[in-house]
Amino acid sequence: MAGLRAFEDMDMIIQSKSHPYSVEIFGDLSSALDAVSHPGRSHWLVDQVLLKHYEAVFHGRLPETRTVLIEATEETKSYDAIGPVFLDLLGKGLKRDGNLIVVGGGVLQDIGCFVATVLARGIRWELVPTTLLAQADSCIGSKSSINIGVFKNQIGTFYSPHRVLLSPSVLESLPWDEIRSGIGEIIKFQLLTGEAEFRELIKDLAQFASHPKVVANWIQRSLEIKKAYIEEDEFDFGRRNQLNYGHSFGHAYESATHYAIPHGIAVVLGMLTATYVSVQMGMVGRGHFDDLRGQLMPWCKPYGDHLATADLEEVLAALRRDKKNTAAGVNCILTRGFGRMEKCRVDMDRVIAPSLRNFITNELH
Ligand SMILES: NC(=O)c1ccc[n+]([C@@H]2O[C@H](COP(=O)([O-])OP(=O)(O)OC[C@H]3O[C@@H](n4cnc5c(N)ncnc54)[C@H](O)[C@@H]3O)[C@@H](O)[C@H]2O)c1
Ligand SMILES: [Zn+2]
Repeated sequence: MAGLRAFEDMDMIIQSKSHPYSVEIFGDLSSALDAVSHPGRSHWLVDQVLLKHYEAVFHGRLPETRTVLIEATEETKSYDAIGPVFLDLLGKGLKRDGNLIVVGGGVLQDIGCFVATVLARGIRWELVPTTLLAQADSCIGSKSSINIGVFKNQIGTFYSPHRVLLSPSVLESLPWDEIRSGIGEIIKFQLLTGEAEFRELIKDLAQFASHPKVVANWIQRSLEIKKAYIEEDEFDFGRRNQLNYGHSFGHAYESATHYAIPHGIAVVLGMLTATYVSVQMGMVGRGHFDDLRGQLMPWCKPYGDHLATADLEEVLAALRRDKKNTAAGVNCILTRGFGRMEKCRVDMDRVIAPSLRNFITNELH
């Protein structure tokens, strides 16, 4: 991912009920960190992996007395693990008039947003997203999601950062599977938008590893699409639900494989599942599923094979635990074709269980 410093100027302002906020673009991580507000008196929550990759950039920027380093895992973004983070930050003097700078991917964002929402009933916070998934998707939309026990993402808040400072150049150190995970969410945005946009993205996918401008362009396009959804329905009561396309099944696949599948790749497998279920429901023709499967399955390697070995009962149990579902039915986003997603309630025993059995057994290779 060398040379990600070249990209178009794409700053934007996001409207939010808590406060409008900016997404500002920087040529490199160093410039983004230079631009944070109140660096002298802010507190920092940083993914510890970044220090290894950008030691020189962070040198002298993270005062020990105001910095908390975090390992980005599903365990660290859990209700049990977050208590010590509050204690650490409070012990280091973070107060209501403070500013919290969060540097990392979706895990750090979830932890940082949750802390910023409830510490002193809400403090100022700024986000420097460092994964493709966070840059192209989660950095806007104001959600925090924390795990509790086996219940993934079931505790959360809506609270926007005050600024997002984004540098695509930080993706140079991101492992390829994590890049592919971000691509999964980018694919979701294009499927929601229409066939022409999806085909254009598919043509570009092969260039993601070597052409920095291509990546920056799709980050920008994804954020523009998401901006329209979240500004219309920030609290997820209506249209924003569609952004969950692929997520009911994707989350169940993550859980049943004990998070062996990166989130965005699980979402791609989940979107294929939702399309498969849509075929069973008579909402779309089998040809549409075959088309998507042909285009997207290669991008899921080797995680499709991994899912093929998952225990169906564990997948179904995870679906039942999903906060959107009941024991009898799954509330999910199905499709009538490109750009035509619909929220549906689908019977667990008559439709979901047999469809998932067929999908996992026959369609993953
Ligand atoms: N709140 C939301 O709106 C929202 C939306 C989507 C996903 N999420 C959550 O985000 C999480 C996934 O986030 P993610 O995919 O960004 O992953 P992540 O934060 O777990 O990061 C993935 C891995 O990359 C490492 N990493 C981060 N930046 C790096 C960089 N620049 N170079 C090298 N390594 C780097 C991390 O340490 C980690 O090992 C999930 O828990 C998911 O539920 C939240
Ligand atoms: Zn997602």
